[in-house]
Amino acid sequence: MQVIETISELRAAVFNARLNGLKVGFVPTMGNLHYGHISLVEQACEHCDLVITSIFVNPLQFAPHEDLDTYPRTLEADKTQLMESGCDILFAPSVTEMYPDGKGVDTVVDLPSLSPLHCGITRPHFFKGVATVVVKLLCMVLPDIAFFGEKDRQQLTIIRRVVKDLSLPVEIIGVSTKREKSGLALSSRNGYLTDAEKQQAAFLYQLLNEIRQRIENGARDFQSLERQANQQLAEHGFEPDYFHICHSETLLPAALEDKKLAILAAAKLGSTRLIDNVAFDLI
Ligand code: PAJ
Repeated sequence: MQVIETISELRAAVFNARLNGLKVGFVPTMGNLHYGHISLVEQACEHCDLVITSIFVNPLQFAPHEDLDTYPRTLEADKTQLMESGCDILFAPSVTEMYPDGKGVDTVVDLPSLSPLHCGITRPHFFKGVATVVVKLLCMVLPDIAFFGEKDRQQLTIIRRVVKDLSLPVEIIGVSTKREKSGLALSSRNGYLTDAEKQQAAFLYQLLNEIRQRIENGARDFQSLERQANQQLAEHGFEPDYFHICHSETLLPAALEDKKLAILAAAKLGSTRLIDNVAFDLI
């Protein structure tokens, strides 16, 4: 596996691959890789000839009070996992390579309808930072296909929308959420949880499935279901952020006649913020 730190070297490598007719796959990450990330790389290996993974902890998507400085950075272990999973190129740029003028940029990618929903309620600048860096990365890599996890369903929806709105020549593939045996979605932030909190954390996915089942069994008072779920989260030691039943493609609040649904939730356990979701079709 080649490790590349500069945009010019990356462009040269991709240019060569394209000259040789290779199909290029891209998996953007912030590192501290777990099997969730690796499953994206595996999907990329299945669909593409040259697989590029990026590791960049993007300052633009962290608010000043968030965990940018303490976000786990485990580059050596990440490299080993990537090599074993068949990744061809690791792109690991520095902050100055990505943002030569310091931490920020003047040009941003923002989605004023989608960004303020769900995670955007408590993290108003988050998706602007995500969309901006993903567009920068896509312009650097110019992949045929880019892979994103369904674990971050709002992020995936936003990226799909950006690609459509800006006519970017890339296919986006969503990859299913990888979980621990308990059901807890794998996440780099799970490392912040104590053993006891980790056990408690599995309740979030249980609750998502319980509410999904109640909807599949005919429950339709979505607001009441959301209220009950928030209450249950609080009773199980979480500080609920949101629990939303919505249309799985628009992510707008679900209407009674909607058949394609998703339940998105975020809650804090101690100081760790967890997010998860389930998507399902009613027949
Ligand atoms: P990060 O949190 O490192 O996640 C990188 C990719 O891995 C995302 O597409 C995410 O949805 C996916 N992923 C994380 N946990 C997963 C799991 N348990 N199962 C399946 N996929 C999972 O998301 C980001 O980084 C950043 O916002 C980024 C897109 C890289 C922009 O900075």
